[in-house]
Amino acid sequence: MRLVFATNNDNKVREINHILGDNFSLLSLGDLGLNEDIPENEPTIEGNALHKARYIYNRLNIPVFADDTGLEIDALNGLPGVHSARFAGDTKDSAANIEKVLCMMKDAVNRSARFRTVIALIIDDNEFLFEGVVKGTIISEKRGKEGFGYDPVFVPEGQDRTFAEMLLGEKNQISHRAIAFEKLKTFLNNYPETYNKPG
Ligand code: IMP
Repeated sequence: MRLVFATNNDNKVREINHILGDNFSLLSLGDLGLNEDIPENEPTIEGNALHKARYIYNRLNIPVFADDTGLEIDALNGLPGVHSARFAGDTKDSAANIEKVLCMMKDAVNRSARFRTVIALIIDDNEFLFEGVVKGTIISEKRGKEGFGYDPVFVPEGQDRTFAEMLLGEKNQISHRAIAFEKLKTFLNNYPETYNKPG
């Protein structure tokens, strides 16, 4: 099945290609000659994922999915949430984002948080959402050099290391994104046979 992944991030495309396996031929926006950034101005993670998928589906009318992720911290009433990438400004600076979070949480007793990924899939004019959640704790100092974003301050539940102290392969076994994409894979593998037949 040919599928478009509505992202310009080639690392993500490679990672997801690996998860989805050989049954699917994944196309990135770059493969389609679409190099524009799709706006992400919706007020929710679900809204952003759906907006990106609809933006491409309305143009190309082929199966498409998009993902959006946020870190939701209980002591901050769910922030940074949908604002995770630009929490400290438009430069998307991870160090500044972490600094802002730690500063806002300096007196927080409740350190619980979760990463949440939502994938929006549009296929045959129908929309489907898949969610992956990893619960954890925000520690008060950065630890580890792997990963990206908020990884150095997030310790997943049941672990004693941050995501940034894990190798990529380890993180990918338990991550919010992996959970959501496994759900997408299961769905697509069971999608009506007729859809896969030519003509
Ligand atoms: P995106 O929707 O995947 O682009 O993620 C939005 C923002 O959430 C990123 O810019 C990061 O700041 C943060 N984020 C997403 N996934 C992760 C992760 O696995 N670890 C740490 N931060 C993440």
